[in-house]
Amino acid sequence: MHVLVAGAHGQVGQHVTSILAESDHDVRGMIRSEDQIEAIEELGAEPVVADLTEEVSHAVEGCDAVVFAAGSGGDAVWDVDRDGAITLMEAAEDQGVERFVMLSSISADTPEEAPEALRDYLNAKAEADERLRESDLTYTIVRPGELTNENGTGRIRTSTELERTDGDVPREDVAQTLVTALTAERTKGRTFEVLSGDDTIEAALEDPLES
Ligand SMILES: NC(=O)c1ccc[n+]([C@@H]2O[C@H](COP(=O)([O-])OP(=O)(O)OC[C@H]3O[C@@H](n4cnc5c(N)ncnc54)[C@H](OP(=O)(O)O)[C@@H]3O)[C@@H](O)[C@H]2O)c1
Repeated sequence: MHVLVAGAHGQVGQHVTSILAESDHDVRGMIRSEDQIEAIEELGAEPVVADLTEEVSHAVEGCDAVVFAAGSGGDAVWDVDRDGAITLMEAAEDQGVERFVMLSSISADTPEEAPEALRDYLNAKAEADERLRESDLTYTIVRPGELTNENGTGRIRTSTELERTDGDVPREDVAQTLVTALTAERTKGRTFEVLSGDDTIEAALEDPLES
């Protein structure tokens, strides 16, 4: 598949981009600054400059799939985490892209239980996720717990009903989960949470409703 990574220079996005570059997929890395072109090329991807708050059609043109790993970092939740994501979904629909894998967040459905400072962000993510479910795209929504920079272990647990939401998971494992989900049939049309766990990523994605 020809895959666009939104947020390709982000911490998760760089892992996603290099995993895809080493796979059979072709990868295009979306960045909003020309200063990051060289870094994306070094990861093995074709860079494309596009800002989620502007026109992004050229970024998805010719792609079969999108991995959305971009994020505002809290400064522009409505403009980037919600509207920017929706802009990219709409461009993907217009361009006939089939697959869309979204990096969302644990607790996106229960913002009222989260610390006040995170509530707008979680609401923005939930609204973007909802729009994705209503889209023509074959979606997977991956909702990890707190991201860490520990080395990946290759082992996670997935669930639609985690009994606790305070766990964490390395960015590297989340990136591998997003890439594996692209072609994992059982994740299509599904939304699930991800924490570090005991199952291999492939096994955990065989049926995310049951692991
Ligand atoms: N932190 C957590 O514990 C946690 C937990 C669950 C889910 N998440 C989700 O995971 C996402 C990725 O995490 P991360 O650590 O990889 O974040 P990150 O390092 O901040 O990466 C975010 C990327 O998004 C890009 N971006 C921001 N605004 C953009 C725009 N308008 N147009 C195009 N690209 C834009 C940034 O580009 P620049 O380099 O130009 O800034 C950056 O490359 C977060 O944003 C969040 O939604 C985080």
